Amino acid sequence: MRMHILYGMFFLFSTLKTSSGAEWCYQSQVTCAKPCQGPSKWTEVAMTCGGQAQSPINIVTKKARTDERLKPLHYTGYQFGFHSDIINNGHYVQVSLPDSAKIDGGNLESTYKTLQLHFHWGAHGGPGSEHTIDGEQYPMEMHIVHIKQEYHSISEALKDKTGVAVLGFFYQESGSSNKKYESIVNALKYITQPGNNTTVKDLSLDMLIPSQENLTTYYRYQGSLTTPDCDESVVWTVFENAIPLSKEQLSAFSQLSFADGKNMTGTYRPVQPLNGREVYRSGSVVVWVNTVVLLSSVLAAVGLSLPD
Ligand SMILES: *[C@@H]1O[C@H](CO)[C@@H](O)[C@H](O)[C@H]1NC(C)=O
Ligand SMILES: *[C@@H]1O[C@H](CO)[C@@H](O)[C@H](O)[C@H]1NC(C)=O
Ligand SMILES: *[C@@H]1O[C@H](CO)[C@@H](O)[C@H](O)[C@H]1NC(C)=O
Ligand SMILES: *[C@@H]1O[C@H](CO)[C@@H](O)[C@H](O)[C@H]1NC(C)=O
Ligand SMILES: [Zn+2]
Repeated sequence: MRMHILYGMFFLFSTLKTSSGAEWCYQSQVTCAKPCQGPSKWTEVAMTCGGQAQSPINIVTKKARTDERLKPLHYTGYQFGFHSDIINNGHYVQVSLPDSAKIDGGNLESTYKTLQLHFHWGAHGGPGSEHTIDGEQYPMEMHIVHIKQEYHSISEALKDKTGVAVLGFFYQESGSSNKKYESIVNALKYITQPGNNTTVKDLSLDMLIPSQENLTTYYRYQGSLTTPDCDESVVWTVFENAIPLSKEQLSAFSQLSFADGKNMTGTYRPVQPLNGREVYRSGSVVVWVNTVVLLSSVLAAVGLSLPD
């Protein structure tokens, strides 16, 4: 009897597997000989990908609401040096991180610790970021993934609507190469095949992100992971200031391969509908308020008043 149930379950699972065509992939891979589920079919891989609070999004700067509580974040342990595994996971490049680096402040409801960082990019330095700003797609985007301090794994954090905090950074092409990225860019040639990994030495998170004074402007919204299962458990912080990389450094990511042997390019999910979500912008409304107050007093002095 028990055996029959087991066989039944086996058949059910193998049928599901073949009917849904197995693995998810990016749009750039959909034309390949080996069938895979592109972004428009991710709901067949995970129902959650069809949810109402998905990421990435296009950020319309004029519609972003300024929120004074979005002060600069506090970064702890971002200055620590570490050696780390960098891996071609078949979809993109990921660097594992020690959990000793933490963020809080910036209206985050908790302290979050680092888990991993990874990159999304285009083809040979072409458009490839996941988030877009007023429709502009940058050549690359880094996600530093954090989970609430009290959780022990990503799966635990994903059960909490605000369990994961991802910091998103854009890249822009610059005339000269960025020395701080040399160790990561040099490591790429050792991990061209899915499953390959190598060690990058003497990294720190500080060196990979803009300087503190260039981290004050950011966007905040509630969204999801940008790969299946697309869990809607992510508090997003997307920074306005882009990190400079040369054309050669950006292109280096395209030398990696997907499992089908094609160059690993276009590793981004298309933007998703907002569905009524608010996007908030850091910064202060004080300047504007002061202007109004000043204007009112000037007008009062000459016997006029501002309309309400
Ligand atoms: C990368 O993976 C391929 C295929 O699995 C393997 O043949 C090759 O030896 C690996 N390279 C390194 C540097 O580990
Ligand atoms: C890195 O690759 C080696 C050899 O292929 C493997 O034994 C090891 O588990 C891999 N490490 C990671 C973190 O994937
Ligand atoms: C901050 O960003 C601006 C504009 O992107 C850039 O010109 C400046 O060099 C940056 N400052 C630092 C210290 O990185
Ligand atoms: C794949 O990347 C390598 C290394 O950058 C390049 O030589 C090759 O032309 C690329 N292939 C395609 C199809 O773009
Ligand atoms: Zn990502």
